[in-house]
Amino acid sequence: MNLHTLLLAKFQAALTAIGAPEGTPAPLSRSTRVGFGHYQFNGAMALTKLLKQNPRDIAQKIVDVVELDDEVEKLEVAGPGFINIYIKPQWLAQQLQVANADSRLAIKTEKQQTVVVDYSAPNLAKEMHVGHLRSTIIGDSVAKTLEFLGHKVIRQNHMGDWGTQFGMLLAHLNDKLAANEIAETALSDLEDFYRAAKVRFDNEDGFADRARDYVVKLQSGDAQCMQLWQNFIDVSIAHSEEVYEKLNVSLKRSDVMGESAYNHDLAATVAELKTAGIVVESQGAQVAFLQEMADKEGNPAAYIVQKSGGGYLYATTDQAAIRYRNGVLGADRTLIFTDVRQALHFKQTGIVARKAGFIKADQSYEHCPFGMMLGSDGKPFKTRTGGTVKLAELLEEAIERAAILINKRESDLSAQERKIIADKVGIGAVKYADLSKNRTTDYIFNWDTMLSFEGNTAPYLQYAYARVQSIFRKADVDDVNLQADIQLEEVQEQLLAVKLMQYVEAIKQVSSEATPHVLCTYIYELASLFMSFYEACPILKEGIDEQTKNSRLMLAQLTAKTLQSGLDLLGIETMEKM
Ligand code: ARG
Repeated sequence: MNLHTLLLAKFQAALTAIGAPEGTPAPLSRSTRVGFGHYQFNGAMALTKLLKQNPRDIAQKIVDVVELDDEVEKLEVAGPGFINIYIKPQWLAQQLQVANADSRLAIKTEKQQTVVVDYSAPNLAKEMHVGHLRSTIIGDSVAKTLEFLGHKVIRQNHMGDWGTQFGMLLAHLNDKLAANEIAETALSDLEDFYRAAKVRFDNEDGFADRARDYVVKLQSGDAQCMQLWQNFIDVSIAHSEEVYEKLNVSLKRSDVMGESAYNHDLAATVAELKTAGIVVESQGAQVAFLQEMADKEGNPAAYIVQKSGGGYLYATTDQAAIRYRNGVLGADRTLIFTDVRQALHFKQTGIVARKAGFIKADQSYEHCPFGMMLGSDGKPFKTRTGGTVKLAELLEEAIERAAILINKRESDLSAQERKIIADKVGIGAVKYADLSKNRTTDYIFNWDTMLSFEGNTAPYLQYAYARVQSIFRKADVDDVNLQADIQLEEVQEQLLAVKLMQYVEAIKQVSSEATPHVLCTYIYELASLFMSFYEACPILKEGIDEQTKNSRLMLAQLTAKTLQSGLDLLGIETMEKM
């Protein structure tokens, strides 16, 4: 049951009933402060001119006509004409009862769309770096949320597996293999391999020419060259997969649809753009001139799809990708997760593709940008010596640091149990630190804050979940078959109940805006409300009557299920003990 949607519909009807014209804004928000109701409706003020009445009178009229007798206990007009809405505890209790009995927490699926989610997309020539970490984590969480809401999600890992830099890499690999090295060893450190190839390219006589030859051979599909290329990308994809595995990310080999997959289609794509009159020849290149993105002097932006020498670009591949996704896969929506520096590229790409009819009017193309991960000095995240941070090493360090913290805590856990917990806490902490920030801003990577058991962190939330499990163990009740009436008498119980109802609102927002931090904020608030509920409303204390105890256990159980569901959508694991 989506409480927000329900209230909104009722208030919209009330607006119509008091003579407000169709399309009158109906601002309805969750109250952020205790004592101002659970929700607030702020639509009266905007109607004063139109209805020629004072806003408090209008608010009162809305209160008089709105049909919420079943759901609402009290509506109060406050301040200049706000309406504070208090939900009926009995009604809330009924809804929670239904949610607790349902494996989907009574959350209905949305009208199904086919959604292409383009994320992770490392460049295979090099080691995967932190920018791809952000894309991977955020994209995966949005993909899972869309799936939970019933959409058909098609993951597309648009890996950078093609282009001129491969000429140099393949020439270098060829020599290594000729010297009897095997690909896995030669490529065990991609950064080193890349650097060595680059040094040869810049300094060794004849090597640059061989590298260029390899580019030509690659383009023309030469068998020996393709074999080398396949060798290279296999090893490099395996590196990425190691990271995915560690990260508990749902990407599979079958989701890989790299740049090379569009190679055969680039000429046809450019031809189509030409026929449609969207690109023209300019100084030997094929260019779309975009008047809608002109500079201050009025010069249109130039979007190149083929260079004067005939070579294709990143942009060409993206046009081909759109044709495939929107035409063949039937995407209603495409979401692409890259850092914000590519914003201009995707804006132009969208404009060109729409003009060409590759994107139809009812299809959306959404670039979902994110900011940078920064070091504690506020500069782009680097190793101490200024190199790129290897993701695999970063994740290992997270696990090691978590292990130290876990081992410091008092508990009766075995060494093996602690190891498993450290894995989940370490990885969870890195992922959550990223997911919980509004993705559009930069954020500072800090081990101590992300691994803290206090505050908006993964360990805090994982702990909240484990805490409920320990309550159930202590209460010695079978949580699977717990059957009791929920009663919401205390304020803390009611606040927790309203928050539990709002889970659906949070995930719907994640699905429409591709912003997992909304879900993080929600889960954090839920866990915090649970902690204060648990303090104010004891469950296991002597003298609590059976009915109250069971009702509170039901609330604890639904809290745990909601935490687990939310953390799962974020790709973060929970555990029974911590
Ligand atoms: N490989 C690119 C990069 O690392 C990201 C690709 C994103 N997707 C796309 N369709 N262009 O920057």
